Amino acid sequence: MDNQAYVVQMNGNAVHGKGPAKCPTPNGTRVTGNGMHRVGANGSLYPAKGKSRRLGWDVKPSVMANNTVNPIRAIVDSMKLSPNPDKPMIALSIASGDPTVFGNLPTDDAVLRAMKDAIDSHQYNGYSPSIGYLKSRQAVANFYSSSEAPLTAEDVILTSGCSQAIDLAISVLCNPGDNILVPCPGFSLYKTLAVSMGIEVKLYNLLPDRSWEVDLPHLESLIDERTSCLIVTNPSNPCGSVFTKEHIQKILKVASRHRVPVLADEIYGDMVFPGCSSPSLASLSSDVPILSCGGLAKRWLVPGWRMGWILIHDRNEVFGPAIRQGLVKLSQRILGACTIIQGALESILNNTPQSFYSNTISFLKSNSEICFNELSTVPGLNPVMPSGAMYLMVGIEVDHFPDFKDDVDFTEHLVTEQSVFCLPASAFEYPNFFRIVVTVPQEMMVEACGRIREFCQRHYRPSSSGSNDLDQ
Ligand SMILES: Cc1ncc(COP(=O)(O)O)c(C=O)c1O
Repeated sequence: MDNQAYVVQMNGNAVHGKGPAKCPTPNGTRVTGNGMHRVGANGSLYPAKGKSRRLGWDVKPSVMANNTVNPIRAIVDSMKLSPNPDKPMIALSIASGDPTVFGNLPTDDAVLRAMKDAIDSHQYNGYSPSIGYLKSRQAVANFYSSSEAPLTAEDVILTSGCSQAIDLAISVLCNPGDNILVPCPGFSLYKTLAVSMGIEVKLYNLLPDRSWEVDLPHLESLIDERTSCLIVTNPSNPCGSVFTKEHIQKILKVASRHRVPVLADEIYGDMVFPGCSSPSLASLSSDVPILSCGGLAKRWLVPGWRMGWILIHDRNEVFGPAIRQGLVKLSQRILGACTIIQGALESILNNTPQSFYSNTISFLKSNSEICFNELSTVPGLNPVMPSGAMYLMVGIEVDHFPDFKDDVDFTEHLVTEQSVFCLPASAFEYPNFFRIVVTVPQEMMVEACGRIREFCQRHYRPSSSGSNDLDQ
C-alpha cells in the first residue's frame, strides 16, 4: 500500500493531490500526459510501480487491528456460560453498563421530544463542522461552565460518545512509546485504545478499603519522563466510587508536581448519591490542564445515541493553540458526532427536568443499598458500597471458596448453578472481585442476591484448609 498517496477535500470536490487536478481517478492516481502516476504526500509525481505484480492474495489485518483487544470480551467470550435451565437468567454483568437493557430506566420525555423536534426540523441532515455545531457546543459550554472552571464554545469538542472523546484525548496527548497512568480497577477502554497506538499503560492502584481512593504514593512512583497523561475516572466504573474534594486536590497535586496533564473521565459526573458531592476535577485545578470527557450516555440514559464531548480546561494556557488544533485535526478523521443529536442537544440540556436526574439517582442508590445490605451478610463476600455511578464491586474471599480457582471460575459456576452472571473483575485486571451493574429492576436485584447467597453458602468453607479439595 502506498500510504503517501492522499485525497484532499476542497469546496466539496474531491481533489487528488496538490496543483491542478487532471483527470482524477477513484484510486488516488491521476493520468498525466506521459502515463499513470501516483501523487505523493508532498505533491510530487513519480511513476507508479507497475511491474511487481503479486502472485496471490495476501490480505492481513493491520498491526493496529491485531493490537486492539477488549479485555472484557476476551474474558467473557472464553467463559463457559451454561445457565441452570430451571432458573431464568439474570445478567448483572452488562459489559458496558447499558442502563436501557431492562427497560426499567427510560430516558425523560423531554429528551425524546428534543430528538423528535430535531428530526422534524429537517435542519440536521447534513454534515456539521467536525468538532460540532457552534450552537450545540455553546449549549454544552453553558451547561458545564462555572466560575471555578469557565468554558466557552471554543473549549468544547463534540464527539461520537465519550469513547471517541477518550480516543481523541489520548491521541492528542500521547505518542507511541509514551506511557499513561490508568486506574486499577478501571474502565478497560483506556488500555484497549492505548495499546493499539503503541502507548504503554501503567496501572495505578485504587484502594478498596478506602472507598477506592487512589494509592497516591503508588501513582507517583509510576511517573517518568515518558508519562504523557494521567487518567482519572470519577465517579468510577467499575467501582461506583466518588472522590472527595480533598482527595481530588491530592491527585491534582501529584499531576502538578510532575507536570502531567489529566484526562478526567467524567461520564458519570453528577451521578452521585444524595449526601455526596462530586466536584469536577477542573473546578479544583489551578494549574493542571485537563481534558474532561463526558456525554449523554449515562446521565441521560441514552448510550446508543453516541453523543460525547471533550471540555478543554487549559489552565495557564499549557495546552495552547497546538493541542486545540490537534484535537480539531483528529476530529476531522470521522467528521464529528451525529448531527440529529447535536440538533437536540441544547434542548436536552436545558429542558430535562431536575426530577428525572434525581429519580434516576434515587433508584441507583436504593438498588445499591439492597445489593450491599444483602451481600454484606453473605459468608465470604465483601461488597464495597458505592457512592455514585451504576456499579458495585464485591470482593471474594477466595481462600474460603476452594472449589474455585479464581473470580472467573467463581462467576462461571454462579451462572451454571444459579443463572446469575456477574462480571469477573479480572476483566478490569483486578482479580478476586466481581462487578454488579445496579440498573436492573429491583425485584431482579433481590432475586439475584438471594441466589448469590445460596451459592456462597453451598461453597463456603470456614477455613482455608480445603485448598486440596479441588485435587480430590
Ligand atoms: C468510565 C466510562 N467512560 C466512558 C464510557 C463510554 O461512554 P460512551 O458510551 O458515551 O462512549 C463508559 C461506558 O460504559 C464508561 O463506563
